[in-house]
Amino acid sequence: MELFEAIKARRSIRHYKPDAIPEEKINTVLAAARWAPSWSNCQPWRFVLVQDKEKKARLAKTLAPANRALQSIKEAPMVIVLCAKLGCSGFIGGKSIPDKAELWYMFDVALAMQNLTLMAHSLGLGTVHIGWFNPQEVAQILNIPDGVTVVEMTPLGYPAEKGRAPSRRELAELVFYESYSHGTLNR
Ligand SMILES: Cc1cc2nc3c(=O)[nH]c(=O)nc-3n(C[C@H](O)[C@H](O)[C@H](O)COP(=O)(O)O)c2cc1C
Repeated sequence: MELFEAIKARRSIRHYKPDAIPEEKINTVLAAARWAPSWSNCQPWRFVLVQDKEKKARLAKTLAPANRALQSIKEAPMVIVLCAKLGCSGFIGGKSIPDKAELWYMFDVALAMQNLTLMAHSLGLGTVHIGWFNPQEVAQILNIPDGVTVVEMTPLGYPAEKGRAPSRRELAELVFYESYSHGTLNR
């Protein structure tokens, strides 16, 4: 699949078929995540794969009831919970850098997740980033140790819906030339 086509056609998928995912596809999706760049190549991401029905039901309960992705956690054959090992991303020589030190692991995990979602899409699988849930409850359910934090989760499986593309802002609204300006294209 051509890269730009994959980027544009990937959608948040919130309904899934129960069909099992071949092991090979799961491994390819995880391998793509593993090849993401990270701060000092520290690779803080950790992936917890959940297939157990009862555990998925418990994870679903950690989502806010109004979360549109709630059913997806129960429907998909697998849920991947993305965690980050703390204390390396945003650190140099054991010391945290002054600006955004606490945020760089989020950045790294997002890069891994972007690879994961695009690779899944190219293999005919669906995903959806889920950030609106109670991470403390998830940590308890999955026995996440101290020093590791839960960042987000995604169902993984064959889509039972197409998903509609929400529109994107025009580049003219987002891109500035030479300095930041308000409103219109700065060119
Ligand atoms: C960091 C992040 C957190 C998100 N959390 C949720 C969520 O909790 N529930 C949900 O239904 N969608 C969630 N989404 C999906 C977005 O709503 C979706 O990506 C956006 O509307 C664009 O749609 P698209 O992914 O189909 O292009 C999240 C996306 C991101 C990037």
